[in-house]
Amino acid sequence: MRARRFRSLLTLSIVFCAMLHAEDGSQAWLRYAQPSPNPTAAVHREIPAVIVNLDPSLVAASAETEIRRGVRSMLGRTLRVETKIPSEDAWVLGTTDELREPFPNYHAPSLGPEGFALTVLTEHGHHRWLIVGADPRGILYGSFHTLSGIARGESFASMAGADSPAAPIRWVNQWDNLDGTIERGYAGPSIFFDNGSVRTHLTRAGEFARLLASVGINGCTINNVNADPHLLQPEMIRAVARVADAFRPWGVRLSLSVAINSPQAIGGLDTFDPGDAKVAAWWRDKVDEIYAAIPDFAGFVVKADSEGEPGPSRYGRTPADAANMLAAALRPHGGVVLYRAFVYNHHLDWSDPKADRARASYDIFHPLDGQFAGNVIVQIKNGPIDFQVREPVSPLFAGLPKTNEAVELQVTQEYMGQQRHLVFLPTQWKTYLDFDVRADNRSTPLKDIVDGKTFHRPLGGYVGVANVGLDTNWLAHPLAMANLYGFARLAWNPNTSSETIARDWSRLSFSNNEKVVSTITHMLLSSWPIYEDYTGPLGLQTLTNITGPHYGPAPQSQENNGWGQWIRADRNGVGMDRTVETGTGFIGQYPSQVVQMFTSLKTCPDNLLLFMHHVPYTYRLRTGKTIIQTIYDLHYQGADDAAGLVQQWQTLHRLIDYDRYNQTLTLLEYQAGHAIVWRDAVNRWFAKISGIPDDNGRIDHDPNRITASQMQRDGYTPVDVTPWESATDGKAWVCKDRAACTATAHLDRSAGAYDIAVQYFDFRQGASTFQLLLNHKQIARWTANNMLPGQAPNGDTSTRYTLHGVPLRPGDVLTIEGHPDDTEPAPIDYIEIVPQPAAPATKRHP
Ligand code: GCU
Repeated sequence: MRARRFRSLLTLSIVFCAMLHAEDGSQAWLRYAQPSPNPTAAVHREIPAVIVNLDPSLVAASAETEIRRGVRSMLGRTLRVETKIPSEDAWVLGTTDELREPFPNYHAPSLGPEGFALTVLTEHGHHRWLIVGADPRGILYGSFHTLSGIARGESFASMAGADSPAAPIRWVNQWDNLDGTIERGYAGPSIFFDNGSVRTHLTRAGEFARLLASVGINGCTINNVNADPHLLQPEMIRAVARVADAFRPWGVRLSLSVAINSPQAIGGLDTFDPGDAKVAAWWRDKVDEIYAAIPDFAGFVVKADSEGEPGPSRYGRTPADAANMLAAALRPHGGVVLYRAFVYNHHLDWSDPKADRARASYDIFHPLDGQFAGNVIVQIKNGPIDFQVREPVSPLFAGLPKTNEAVELQVTQEYMGQQRHLVFLPTQWKTYLDFDVRADNRSTPLKDIVDGKTFHRPLGGYVGVANVGLDTNWLAHPLAMANLYGFARLAWNPNTSSETIARDWSRLSFSNNEKVVSTITHMLLSSWPIYEDYTGPLGLQTLTNITGPHYGPAPQSQENNGWGQWIRADRNGVGMDRTVETGTGFIGQYPSQVVQMFTSLKTCPDNLLLFMHHVPYTYRLRTGKTIIQTIYDLHYQGADDAAGLVQQWQTLHRLIDYDRYNQTLTLLEYQAGHAIVWRDAVNRWFAKISGIPDDNGRIDHDPNRITASQMQRDGYTPVDVTPWESATDGKAWVCKDRAACTATAHLDRSAGAYDIAVQYFDFRQGASTFQLLLNHKQIARWTANNMLPGQAPNGDTSTRYTLHGVPLRPGDVLTIEGHPDDTEPAPIDYIEIVPQPAAPATKRHP
């Protein structure tokens, strides 16, 4: 009986696997899957069999190849290549200029640089599907746009129209090191570098450029902003030129981050003073050498005088002096300098109530407005601190009306769960891009400033810190690529809605099935608010371990150090007073209408309240609830909603491919567990510091929990956990100097099915094994080898294993058996036994 059921299950799954073939995410949104169900029958019938490309460039050749590839893959048609317009239906690719002669009656719409138009022209009964570019990149972008439309089931005629990018700078920065590691990279080693030089095989670099081009990105900086001067040595320039070669067919220009002390570090000069003629001459020669190897080199990104990096302040020079010196060397070649405004003192004096890191960029850069050369762009992080879960828009954007500006957004999820948590960032980015900075008391949303519209600047745009790695699916979490895709969509057109981005991405990356699309879209759109709730709501910033890996909860790490991410929580209240009257004066850096809005407690948005104000815990928000109770409740809500993401994903079982379904499910389950770690740690910390209990008495009173201290232990001993709030009573239980230890609980649950969760700690190094025994019989076994970022029991490493639907009876005996490995002592915290079905998690409507 059992065997027969097993066989039929097997047959079913074979049939099923044939329908949903294995996918590894390597193709991202360029899967070119046969649309199913097949809404493209009309396209299929109408599609011309011939393609003619009138443009001789390498980039247009890529466009032509891509169309042939996409059409063959999606529609099973092999296009014939012709060099002349045939007497039959045809695709025709060319620039506006190139189309003039063969199609004298066609009047192309006016296109901005790199823009495209799509149209169907009918001549002598033949249809011409024209993909018209303002230039070769425009042809490529128009071709990708067409293929994406076909993949989403649209007909070519319905795509007719014109589109041009909002801004010329649409770059990604990679923070790759020459040794192959990536600063704040969470998806494997560098696709560019290995062991001190450029990789021998650059296939992934070319594939990355193709992905970037498919969504209109035109520049990529390939190395860490904390730049290694050795990158500018002659042999490295020659090596890097190979990466530029891999990018070139896709119209992606290569750029480098440079260390401002390079003339001294590798050039043999005794100074790197930007005011010294020798230094300027060194940079001129270096830039000439780069352009000889990389004729389409895009320019430099500069981080200087920041977080220990050398800078012009060493010589009493300003960022403008340094930027202009580099700009002068690049100008003859058409290159640009992106000079980062992320300049601040990380040795601030915590005891000074006026000290404020958030002020730094404006204080340093605003006085220099008008002094930057025309080919310098100041690259400004979206907020004044550092990619936190929520910050206000940086006031510097309104403070540089005579300077080119670009906004820097972070695709890599440094403070956002490091691609183990689902956080869809376009929703967050939209709040910045749409924020009306009210420069000169008029409507000036951030997007208009960086697009150059507000202050009539010729250059500017968008930079995304991407940090893809060698992981097959580029960013580790199968849903994280939505952020790279979304960044590019917004860089092309910041008016695109998050919902459009989420829907398009889901269709292209998974399926056109409406259930799949609407479920993933809903999950994506709700994910950032969920993450905000269980980390740092109300403008508290992320509350992560800022002196460690920036991952798990560690609220105290914000305080009492020079880094200036303070929240100034004490016995009576919480929040940074940034008002002009009584605080640091940060709010005064904004234009006057924004000053008013943030200054008044009545108009300051709740979600930024504690960023702007210090208030008592008993202060009541507009909801009528106190600050402290809101903090507690949001953390419970956020953790419940994270569990809800798992349930939503499970409704897609068998609607998407097996591998990505399972990989995502595992990550979402991990996230739901880690959200509980976050919730408990932050709530415990605030309960202790404020001395005010949760109205609902939930903190550390979970009736389903049995802590290791309450269990009967053999070999397990307690150790202190730092920070204390990341484990029950500040203790983890470890198995030291033994091959195995156990902790046993005598249960008294009424008969029924339960989910059993074991909360334990999983270090980066070591792979302890655990067993769960029910009445001395093994019911589960797993290994702690998730590579979490830490080597001690804390909020970074606390994780859980859940076994679903275990039948229990009164009097059952449950045992955890831990086997240490290497320096990981099989550490545990508690078990949680929850009756099934678990309470349905609240669905959040974005
Ligand atoms: C953050 C990040 C650093 C990075 C820096 C930057 O502080 O943690 O790793 O170098 O930002 O943007 O320069």
